[in-house]
Amino acid sequence: MTRLLVHDLAQLVTPAGSQAPLRGRALGDLDVIEDAYVLCEDGRIAATGRMRDLGPLDDDVEELDGRGLSAIPGLVDCHTHACFAGDRVDEFALRAGGATYEELHAAGGGILSTVRATRAASEEELAESTLLHRSWMLRAGTTTFEAKSGYGLDRDTELAQLRAVRAAGGVPTWLGAHAVPPEFEDADSYLDFALAEVLREAAGLAEAADVFLEAGAFDEPQARRYLTACREAGLVLRMHGDQFTELGAIPLAVELDVRSVDHLEATGPAGIKVLAESDVTGVLLPGSALFLGRPMPPARELVDAGAAVALATDFNPGSAFCESLPLACSLAATQLKLSPAEALAACTVNAAHVLGRAERKGRLAPGYDADLVLLDASDWRYLAYHLGHDHVAGVVIGGEAAELG
Ligand code: NIG
Ligand code: FE
Repeated sequence: MTRLLVHDLAQLVTPAGSQAPLRGRALGDLDVIEDAYVLCEDGRIAATGRMRDLGPLDDDVEELDGRGLSAIPGLVDCHTHACFAGDRVDEFALRAGGATYEELHAAGGGILSTVRATRAASEEELAESTLLHRSWMLRAGTTTFEAKSGYGLDRDTELAQLRAVRAAGGVPTWLGAHAVPPEFEDADSYLDFALAEVLREAAGLAEAADVFLEAGAFDEPQARRYLTACREAGLVLRMHGDQFTELGAIPLAVELDVRSVDHLEATGPAGIKVLAESDVTGVLLPGSALFLGRPMPPARELVDAGAAVALATDFNPGSAFCESLPLACSLAATQLKLSPAEALAACTVNAAHVLGRAERKGRLAPGYDADLVLLDASDWRYLAYHLGHDHVAGVVIGGEAAELG
């Protein structure tokens, strides 16, 4: 048996209870233990508690000194596009000069520029870049990440992306309906191809399917067709919806019982109500809204109406070149008006729910995977409070200290 004891922690913090997803007032309900320990055994959490209640342990326990540190659950990033080649730094400079994301997309740049670079890369290069991005995420405290395909949009590159994500330890999502590649005349003929030629193998590699329901990408009937076929192939369903315009994403999400609808920057009061009354989780991506200079999603209204929300980075080279969930927590507190506690639950237990892993990830409690982040702060809320600072002093994954790059 391998055992790890982190002792004398200033604080140990976990979303309370065992429910997932957390909604309403329960979202901000944390258990905070002061002067705490966590004992990990064989990759799982065996016990947490106060130092004074820690009984004697035999010698074969590895020890980590937690003095001055706070322990939070390993962060879960449930929405990234971490597998890509190239960059979009030229577009970034153009946007700084006034060009909009939508204009660049319509002119064949944007997502399609990353498609060109990703198609030109070998599978090995894609695997390497995903591993590099994973190391950035880990440095910021992310111990579980999802990553989407969607920069291949041809059979071989889409499948290579999904394999690269798996190889890097990520949770792969087939974003087969991200954009219409130039060799197809329209979205319908591209979907004919993707569903006939890619879906079967993609479903063998991915856990979920995702679609970009937006003007200039896929409309509601096309999203419905794609998602229905993906569900028949056994995939969990997710959507990019209401990013720039409300085109029926939320009603469709509810109708098809998708796991999550992500973005929601354009969601109005009717959409908030429908989402709040459903089992669909709304994924908030404030880093993307910030990076594009767009309105923030109505997070406070969603939580107050009773919707389940998660918080993620949307890490990608175009709309959100930022892999930091601590920064997302700062944005959640300053821009989305969520409390630090709500932000933490949204990128731990609720994000784990989006990835179908809430029974093992997102909490520091007996039986959960021993994934934890050690913050060099004696108050865990520095995670959100200290804007842009790196407080991650250590990361433990499966009961073992991880190498931070
Ligand atoms: O979630 N909106 C569509 N897809 C991504 C952006 C991908 C890109 O710009 O490369 C997003 O923002
Ligand atoms: Fe995205």
